[in-house]
Amino acid sequence: MNVLGIETSCDETGVAVYHSERGLQAHALYSQVQTHADYGGVVPELASRDHVRKLIPLIRQVLRDAGTEADRIGGIAYTAGPGLIGALLVGASVARSLAWAWNIPSVAVHHMEGHLLAPLLEPDPPEFPFVALLVSGGHTQLVRVEGVGAYELLGESLDDAAGEAFDKTAKMLGLGYPGGPALARLAEKGAAGRFEFPRPMTDRPGLDFSFSGLKTHTLTTLANTAGERQDRADVAHAFQESVVETLVIKCRRALRECGLTRLVVAGGVSANLLMRRRLAEMANEEACLVHFPRLEFCTDNGAMIAFAGCQRLLNGRVEPLEIRAWPRWPLDELKPP
Ligand code: KG4
Ligand code: ZN
Repeated sequence: MNVLGIETSCDETGVAVYHSERGLQAHALYSQVQTHADYGGVVPELASRDHVRKLIPLIRQVLRDAGTEADRIGGIAYTAGPGLIGALLVGASVARSLAWAWNIPSVAVHHMEGHLLAPLLEPDPPEFPFVALLVSGGHTQLVRVEGVGAYELLGESLDDAAGEAFDKTAKMLGLGYPGGPALARLAEKGAAGRFEFPRPMTDRPGLDFSFSGLKTHTLTTLANTAGERQDRADVAHAFQESVVETLVIKCRRALRECGLTRLVVAGGVSANLLMRRRLAEMANEEACLVHFPRLEFCTDNGAMIAFAGCQRLLNGRVEPLEIRAWPRWPLDELKPP
């Protein structure tokens, strides 16, 4: 079965066609980065309008690239939350309307389930059960995963998500939006060991995170320098080390506590190369396997939504055609398909 996937939860319009036996057929992404760059962050109303403009042309393009037509699509999957309500409603309206027009089923997909399952699109997919670290702009979560839809939340950020901390710290360092990749680039030029940042909440038991204190730490550290480019690079270096090391410590702890030997890492921050390297080293030490999505499927995309939706459609899931989205939606409320 061909599944059309639609992602519009934030500032990327993502579309893909995934075939249940033959795999990913085509995918395309339109990033709104230029639209929001002048404002230093995502402007929700502009995001919704851009999805309205780009979604239908992108669907046409992806159907063409997949060498298929509307009458060979067997189901539609769309991101129904969590995310920006206006942006989500664009995807929901288009998905449900097409499902009605084409007389095929459609399913609401949880954005973080999309991220979590993204590594299963790769040629050597992880087997269940595994521990998942989800690190995006809005979420930092450790999840015990028994199968599709069987998610137990082990820990999460009590304040800022890891990606959010990257973005806010990047802003303090005078870098543009989105801050994560820019900060990572600057950190490469920083000197190791000049500044030592704390590893928040690692000195006590538990699997929760807190990243908001690092912002204050960055601000005071920066204020005590001349603010030159090298100073900023050194601060970026210390910040990135702190976030990465904190995530590594908690992942090691989660694997040991669960007695599991597979780790899956997904979400925008999983594109961070230092984090990928350090987690791979840790997994090696623990005799565990670690799985990441390919770089382009770390951040938001339509492929992960088509894949997650396909797992539910294959099990005959049928939903009413009502156009619904949930800006907040806890992952552990999901049920197996
Ligand atoms: O998953 P995603 O595309 O959107 C959400 O669901 O939030 O994640 C976006 C987040 C942003 O905060 C961005 O700064 C961060 O992922 N990010 C990175 C890197 N690439 C993206 N953070 C650190 N290093 C990167 N290379
Ligand atoms: Zn995301």
